[in-house]
Amino acid sequence: MKGRGLVRAGVGFARPGGWRALLSGWRHRRLDARDLPAHGAVRARVPGMVVDAEPRPGGGVIRFARSELRIRVVTGGAVFWGWDGAGPEPSYALSGVVPEPDPRATLEPDKDGGWRVVSERLTVQVSRDGAVEVRTPGGVVLRRDLPPRWWEGADGGPARWTVRSEVSADARFFGLGGRSSGPRLRAGTYRLWNTDPGRTFGPRDDPLYITMPVQLVVADAGTHLAFYDDPWDGRVVLREGVEGAGSGHDRPATSAVHMDGGPLRCWVVVGTPARVLSRWTRLTGAPAAPPSWALGPQHARWGFGSEREVRRVVAGYRERGLPLSALHLDIDHYDGHRVFTVDRRRFPGLPGLAEELATDGVRLVSIVDPAVKAEAGGTVYDSGVAAGAFVRDVNGREVRGVAWPGVCVYPDFTDPQVRSWWGQWYEERLAQGFAGMWHDLNEPVSFSVFGANTLPRSARHSFEGRGGDHREAHNVYALAMARAGYESLRRLRPHERPFLFSRSGWAGMQRYGGTWSGDVSSGWPGLRASLSLVLGLGLCGVPYSGCDVGGFDGSPAPELYLRWFQLGAYLPLFRTHSAIGAGRREPWEFGPDVLEHARAALLERERLRPYFVTLAQLARLTGAPYIRPLWWGFPKDRALRDCEDAFLLGDALLVAPILEPGVRSRTVRLPRGRWYDTATGRVYEGPGQVVVDAPLSRIPVLARGGSVLAVRGSDGATELEVWAPAAGRKGGGVVVSGSGDGWGRAEVERYTTRLVDGEVRVKLIRGDGAGPPKRPVRVRGLDSVR
Ligand code: NOJ
Repeated sequence: MKGRGLVRAGVGFARPGGWRALLSGWRHRRLDARDLPAHGAVRARVPGMVVDAEPRPGGGVIRFARSELRIRVVTGGAVFWGWDGAGPEPSYALSGVVPEPDPRATLEPDKDGGWRVVSERLTVQVSRDGAVEVRTPGGVVLRRDLPPRWWEGADGGPARWTVRSEVSADARFFGLGGRSSGPRLRAGTYRLWNTDPGRTFGPRDDPLYITMPVQLVVADAGTHLAFYDDPWDGRVVLREGVEGAGSGHDRPATSAVHMDGGPLRCWVVVGTPARVLSRWTRLTGAPAAPPSWALGPQHARWGFGSEREVRRVVAGYRERGLPLSALHLDIDHYDGHRVFTVDRRRFPGLPGLAEELATDGVRLVSIVDPAVKAEAGGTVYDSGVAAGAFVRDVNGREVRGVAWPGVCVYPDFTDPQVRSWWGQWYEERLAQGFAGMWHDLNEPVSFSVFGANTLPRSARHSFEGRGGDHREAHNVYALAMARAGYESLRRLRPHERPFLFSRSGWAGMQRYGGTWSGDVSSGWPGLRASLSLVLGLGLCGVPYSGCDVGGFDGSPAPELYLRWFQLGAYLPLFRTHSAIGAGRREPWEFGPDVLEHARAALLERERLRPYFVTLAQLARLTGAPYIRPLWWGFPKDRALRDCEDAFLLGDALLVAPILEPGVRSRTVRLPRGRWYDTATGRVYEGPGQVVVDAPLSRIPVLARGGSVLAVRGSDGATELEVWAPAAGRKGGGVVVSGSGDGWGRAEVERYTTRLVDGEVRVKLIRGDGAGPPKRPVRVRGLDSVR
């Protein structure tokens, strides 16, 4: 794919450039110049002083001289407020049911001329000039939003707005979608515009494919999540606080959200991290639990090229006794890169191939790009034209862009009829034997040699009939595409849970599936960026993700590949993937030592499969991400808050990946409690920092004393691995046996553990007391406590 007319991007792959992309960029620019109102003179506005207030359930409406504020405290520690009359709906983020107002929360005047709403878990205090504070029941301020400011054009176009918020000086910011420079977000500007960087990325490349105005703020005073429910383009400027700055006073940490339009409305959720994520995912939807096979090892490559090559790779896994759960086909299996087609020359019998692979327990997953080649006679194109499916300009003409197949058009997923039209095409994918879908290029991408590589901002969208343009639709495009895919898969294959993951998305995308890093660069910095991204997304409510193990481009050195593989084995989506032209990513391509160590990682992943099933179900039931920052249980521990090179996998395990070359031991910061090195059995007591071995054969994994985790026993049945609690301490754990790949009820088993007379007692908690465990128990770590 090298040569003239191609824009080089990263090592080993290239995107179409040339005259088509040039022309398309130029056309988009012209459309915007013609169809978007020019910003004329602007007038700034602030709310002004309070005039009066009207109580309503859960809060009320507070009127100011130049705006009004609606407040609604809902049950479970969350509050909504909207300026200029904005209500919680319509919203692409919310899952549909806006929670009921808290009947006990009432609006009352305060002594300074402002108003407040007091509820069991939080108090909202509104000042006379429109600052909004969220406080703990004890009165400690968690967040103060200063009075907002709008800029309105004389042309009546959308008002831009800014809100500056203060949080305590010790606070740390997380979230804002999938960011490469985290998980803790440092001072800087973070754009809110889903973006394909057009090449591989590393730390500090920003923005990327998933941005969302979701901030998780962790401070001594408490944890909260703030969500400005506005999908328009914008940016968040973060500034870190300074404790004891100037004359001994703290300088608060601040966030300033600047948006180019859309409603100014905000949800704030308070509580422990676990409670915040639970409330947040109740608001925006329970994370879809992938079928259990999608929790196994997966392999992908752009450029398998033929059925023969696919067979060769799968046989490579089988012959070496390496487990493989799924194999992904990229755009090269399409006919001329056209979505919902197959290149019959190179893939003459896909359904047969799928059946054959299924006997090895391997599923096929298909890439699905949204752009449809604009060609009369093309089946998908013609059908889309008849259905009026494609995004148009102000004059009703199809908006064209450039993607892999050449000149393309783009379905308008904000139109419910287009979603069902698009969804029908998944039947073709299922008939080809695919078991899961991989949504790509849905920022959406239109290749361009200059300007934005997406649709023109003036392009029109349906917005469920109410109408709007791409400035508002851009960030929710992939979310709406995921909805189309998910709903269709549910309809077409009602007995199986859909497997869908999507490169781009927005708040609420977890309802339909997961995501992955996108084109992370192959190097140690890329490895680090991958971890940031997956951790950060989990804190935004998107728990199922992973990265291209080995990096997307180039050829990783064996050590880098191995360390990436070892980390990948503990991420929810464990998939090797690379670009066309990049080096191989099969574990046997890096020499016998790497193969043996990669085998160990694969086998451990399979052994932990029941634990991953549990974590997937717990994410669905509680919103808790599978992988969590170390501070998850101890948000007040400042050292943990700043620790970014290790993570918790569920409640039981602490994983400390190796993120640098040549490292054979590393320091690990431990949360409170007893921890066992799972490889050596050595015991450590947290909190504190310890040095553990990290030979090439493994990365350090520690188990929490007292924990119970479900693992696959040597006979294939699920057994309980129990790590001895310290003397006098209790422990426990949860096992959720998923319903395989279907919709049956997941059964939750709760266990407690205790050390009694040098023996570990494990009990199953039942409605009528406690009973013996339902499964075989294997106790570990007992030697150290005897
Ligand atoms: C971009 C995706 O991020 C990558 O994973 C994929 O291989 C290429 N598109 C080609 O489809």
